[in-house]
Amino acid sequence: MTTSSSRNWKHAVVTGGAGFVGSHLCAALLDSGADVTCVDDFSTGRPENVTALLERPGFRLVQANVAEELPVARPPDVVLHFASPASPADYLRLPLHTMETGSLGTRNALELARACEARFVLASTSEIYGDPLQNPQDERYWGNVNPVGPRSVYDEAKRFGEALTTAHADTHGTDTCIVRLFNTYGPRMRGHDGRAVPTFVRQALAGEPLTVTGDGHQTRSVCHVDDTVRGILAAAAHGMRGPVNIGNPHEITMLDLARLVIALSGSDSEIRFIERPVDDPAVRCPDITLAHDKLGWEPRVSAEEGLRRTIAWFREEGEG
Ligand SMILES: NC(=O)c1ccc[n+]([C@@H]2O[C@H](COP(=O)([O-])OP(=O)(O)OC[C@H]3O[C@@H](n4cnc5c(N)ncnc54)[C@H](O)[C@@H]3O)[C@@H](O)[C@H]2O)c1
Repeated sequence: MTTSSSRNWKHAVVTGGAGFVGSHLCAALLDSGADVTCVDDFSTGRPENVTALLERPGFRLVQANVAEELPVARPPDVVLHFASPASPADYLRLPLHTMETGSLGTRNALELARACEARFVLASTSEIYGDPLQNPQDERYWGNVNPVGPRSVYDEAKRFGEALTTAHADTHGTDTCIVRLFNTYGPRMRGHDGRAVPTFVRQALAGEPLTVTGDGHQTRSVCHVDDTVRGILAAAAHGMRGPVNIGNPHEITMLDLARLVIALSGSDSEIRFIERPVDDPAVRCPDITLAHDKLGWEPRVSAEEGLRRTIAWFREEGEG
C-alpha cells in the first residue's frame, strides 16, 4: 500500500492552477519541494488565488487558454489537468469554452505529458455519474447522464476527457491517472459561484435567507479541499491508472447542510426554498473503498470543522 503523497516531483504543470482546487494543489506541490508552472486563462479563476505563491521560488504563472496552447518553458515530470469551469453557474455561462477545455485542452495536456514522458492526472468529476441510479457510486458504475440536458456540456466534456485519457494510455503508453472528485469546498471559493457551500456561507454571513433548491432532501457529500488535495497527490504518486473516487462519503441533505452553516456561523438567517435546477442529481455519495485500499486515503476533516474554517475564511477574505 502506498501512503506517500509525493513522488518528489521536480516540476509540475497545473492547468487551472489559479482556480479553487488548483491553487491549493499548487501550494501543496510547492510545499513538497516541486517547482510549479500554473497555466490559467482566468476564465473562472482569480489572479489573487495565486498572488501569495508568486513570492515563492519555483512558482511560475502563465496566462493561456489550454484549449489553444499550453506554453511551458521546461519539461515537467507531472501534468495535472485541472482547467475547466466547474460550478454549474460557470459552465452554463461558458458552454462552448467548457467543452473545448474538456476536449482540446485535455488533448493538449495529454500531448505535453506524452512528449515529456510525464505522469498525467485528469481532474474528472462525480458528475460523470449524472443523476445516479446507484448509491453510493463506485468506479464501476457507468452513470446516468442526459447527453443533451443543460448540464451535459460539463458532464459529457468530462466523460470525453476520461475516454481520451484512456485512449492515450492504450495507444501511446502515456502514464495516466483519472481522479473523480466529488463536491469539494473550502477557502478561495467565490461567494457567487453558485455552488451550495459558498452560497450558503455568503448568505448566512450577510443575514440573507439561505436558498435551498427543491425540498432540500437531495443529498451531496462534501469534502474539504485539504482532504481532496491529499487524495489527488496520493493518486498521482501511486502508479494507478484509476479512475478513483476522491470524496467524503458522509452524505448530507442540502437542508441539513444549510442548517449546519446557519448554526456554525451564528447567523439568524432563515431558509427559503427555490426551484430545483433541471437534471439536478437526487443523491451523490462516493464509495471510496478503492482510494482507501490502494492509496491508504480517507478524509480527515469533518463537515463541522471544514465548514468552521471556511466560514472563518469568508469572514476575513471572502467577497460579499
Ligand atoms: N470543486 C469541486 O467540487 C470539483 C468537483 C469535481 C471536479 N472538479 C474539477 O476540478 C477542477 C477545478 O475545479 P474548481 O472547483 O477549482 O473550479 P474553478 O473554476 O475554481 O477552477 C478552474 C480553473 O481553470 C481555469 N480554466 C478554465 N478553462 C481554462 C482554459 N481553457 N485554459 C486555462 N485555464 C482554464 C479557470 O480560470 C480556473 O482558474 C475542474 O477540472 C473541475 O471539473 C472540481
